[in-house]
Amino acid sequence: MHHPVLEFVHAGELVSLPHVPPTRTLLQVLREDLGLTATKEGCNEGDCGACTVVLGEKQGDQIKYSAVNSCIRLAHSIHGMALWTAQDLVGADGTLHPVQKALLTNNASQCGFCTPGFAMSLFGLYQNQVCQGEPVSRNQAQQALSGNLCRCTGYRPILDAAQHMGKLPQVLQDEAAILSKLELLAHTEQGLEADFSYKCPKTLAELLTLRSAHPSAQLVAGCTDVGLWINKAQRDFASVLDLTQVAELRQISRDANTLYIGAAVTLTDAFDALLAERSQLHSFVHRFAGLPVRNSGTLGGNVANGSPIGDSMPLLIALHARVVLASVRGVRELPLDALYTGYRQNVMAADEVLTQIKVPRPTVDEFLRVYKVTKRQEDDISAVCLAVHLQLHDGAVDSISIGVGGVAATPMRAKQTQAALTGQEWTQARIKLAITTLRQEFQPISDMRASSGYRTQVLGNLLQRFWLETQGQSAVHLDDIGQPC
Ligand SMILES: Cc1cc2nc3c(=O)[nH]c(=O)nc-3n(C[C@H](O)[C@H](O)[C@H](O)COP(=O)(O)OP(=O)(O)OC[C@H]3O[C@@H](n4cnc5c(N)ncnc54)[C@H](O)[C@@H]3O)c2cc1C
Ligand code: FES
Ligand code: FES
Repeated sequence: MHHPVLEFVHAGELVSLPHVPPTRTLLQVLREDLGLTATKEGCNEGDCGACTVVLGEKQGDQIKYSAVNSCIRLAHSIHGMALWTAQDLVGADGTLHPVQKALLTNNASQCGFCTPGFAMSLFGLYQNQVCQGEPVSRNQAQQALSGNLCRCTGYRPILDAAQHMGKLPQVLQDEAAILSKLELLAHTEQGLEADFSYKCPKTLAELLTLRSAHPSAQLVAGCTDVGLWINKAQRDFASVLDLTQVAELRQISRDANTLYIGAAVTLTDAFDALLAERSQLHSFVHRFAGLPVRNSGTLGGNVANGSPIGDSMPLLIALHARVVLASVRGVRELPLDALYTGYRQNVMAADEVLTQIKVPRPTVDEFLRVYKVTKRQEDDISAVCLAVHLQLHDGAVDSISIGVGGVAATPMRAKQTQAALTGQEWTQARIKLAITTLRQEFQPISDMRASSGYRTQVLGNLLQRFWLETQGQSAVHLDDIGQPC
């Protein structure tokens, strides 16, 4: 089996590693192979942020910086990128980076186990915000640190540090030198070996050829689901086909009616594109995992994985999104709710890949809301999710589209409830009847997140909330009143 050489830029130098197995994580390579132990291992499942590192990708003549969890990131996925870990912040002469100075002067570290991860999330924010000449707001600091858990210091001093770092003398990376090394790496060809252990094709044609010839290779995108199968379920894959570098799958475009999102677009970028058109999604998209997970995970991965508690699907179903599937045999397109056939099962053939999600653009008369109910406000998976898209005409329902999550084996469309409301007066009395229909339409299971009875109750309550919001009443959001630190 051919292991491709893994090459990336670290601390300004080119690192070249032969013999890295396909399922070896970036954290294992850092700590065990390279002895870079500043990066910590906590949960090993993307939940705590102790392992956060920053990746730099060449985008035109600039570097795009993203904080990611190294514990669930496959090492080979960073081939051709630049990497920063917590021990790269301090200057050659020992001068602390503004991130480190701010953490120190704000007393933002106690036991320190979480600190390397916080420092790296802050470094990502520093590069994307402070180095662009922008101050850091409290809200931006909270978003940037949404994937980092601290058990002893408390978040107030860490958030203070996030805002303080921008007020210190600026430290810039030598981007020209890094870009020239990334340019060199971009031109190293890995070839189309028949017997590969990790393959990262650059074009759709190449991906489809490989997918057809190697149906047993594990297809991965951001690996934020697959990483858990490896770390927690101890699964191993002899060969991995990584689609995140396929240019066609990383594109976002629009025409008059449709927003086209490539399947390998990260959740961060996909949600930014959705938010640009529908600002009411703000609080919902920021409650999807934490930033480092959204920086690696893709919209296509969320949809293809088909978890019944996946968050983007109820929304996309409510928006009448369609998915494009491609193989060497051709291309087909179907409504998203026709993709799923059962628990984590779908209509995709062994040689097919999800290439694009097509989302209808907003109309002036639409009313859209999506509700996610979880035990924790941040970085938690849905117990129940409800998304409703409504168009009224003269006080009656012209069209209503309802997507639900957490109440069936797959994300679903609430067809019976839609039928009960379409063409009817949009009144409280009619909604009461529809709530009964909605509660009868699904038979959720009980699990560690919620009981069946709770899910059924909440599902109906959310439809009532939606009705109230169409009447001009709004719920009080934690975001609006400021959360206690
Ligand atoms: C800490 C943490 C928090 C999370 N929070 C949330 C949350 O709040 N809400 C939520 O919905 N999810 C959450 N997730 C789950 C996960 O992040 C998402 O499902 C994510 O979108 C998966 O995308 P990925 O690119 O990482 O997929 P991967 O893990 O790479 O792949 C997942 C599956 O999809 C398949 N696949 C991927 N792309 C394609 C494609 N283009 N065509 C065909 N098959 C494909 C893969 O073969 C694999 O079977 C969380 C995960 C973690 C670790
Ligand atoms: S070790 Fe907890 S997120 Fe990676
Ligand atoms: S300082 Fe101890 S976990 Fe954050």
